Amino acid sequence: MKKLIAAFILAVAPTVAMASGGEVEYDKAPVDLSNMESLQHGAKLFATYCLSCHSAQYMRFSRVAEDLGMSEDQVKKELMFTTDKIGSTMTIAMPAKDSKAWFGNPPPDLSVMARARGADYLYTYLRTFYIDEKKPTGVNNKVFPDVGMPHVLWKLEGLKKAVVEEHDGEKHLSFEMVTPGTMKAEEYDAAVGDLVNFMVYMGEPIQLHRKALGWKVLGFLLLFLVVSYLLKKEYWRDVH
Ligand code: HEC
Repeated sequence: MKKLIAAFILAVAPTVAMASGGEVEYDKAPVDLSNMESLQHGAKLFATYCLSCHSAQYMRFSRVAEDLGMSEDQVKKELMFTTDKIGSTMTIAMPAKDSKAWFGNPPPDLSVMARARGADYLYTYLRTFYIDEKKPTGVNNKVFPDVGMPHVLWKLEGLKKAVVEEHDGEKHLSFEMVTPGTMKAEEYDAAVGDLVNFMVYMGEPIQLHRKALGWKVLGFLLLFLVVSYLLKKEYWRDVH
């Protein structure tokens, strides 16, 4: 029994420790892989605002077209700005050497970033850029201090400044809009939600198929249950 209790404590202790750690909390990303409209909008935002610096070298435009129910023409018009080959991967023209010189760090490939960092992290990261005159890009970030990436969505979100308050010796960062963007706060949150949704899909494209297959299998099993029940009744009719 003692051993059991010890094992239980060992199993639970890390989660308790993590929960009480003074780490930055992330906002919950509204991920919904069954929402094709959201995924398509996210793909569009991704191609427009991110693909200029970041690649997604494990993702092909043709695959996006197929998975997200977009026509080849639509993908070419809305997503493809650097190539006209639908079968090509989402790569960029910027050499890593140059981007490292420009930004300090090269922009990482984003194919599996959602799996590496988590959707909530991305959703928070893209919504917590704030003005910091000391930085070469003019901005800093709440969850990635001293980030080398500029606030590429500032025209949509606007620019905000950070207000630091101290409660019980703990620092809390909140934001105040200084220059409004073209979107209202809720609109921007929704847009970033769509973008993160797309990045989650991109991190594991098979998810879409797996879930669809799951429902088909469940449907089949249900049908099979009905059939076997009827069969059973048929067999046993003569016995009773
Ligand atoms: C102007 C070039 C540029 C554009 C455009 C850009 N980024 Fe970045 N991004 C960077 C650079 C540079 C870094 C590396 C920052 C660092 O390590 O300090 C980076 C880092 C990141 C990271 C890694 C954060 C981490 O925790 O490691 C994510 C995620 C990211 N970008 C997402 C995006 C998304 C999503 C978009 C489109 C909305 C985008 N980026 C557009 C330059 C860019």
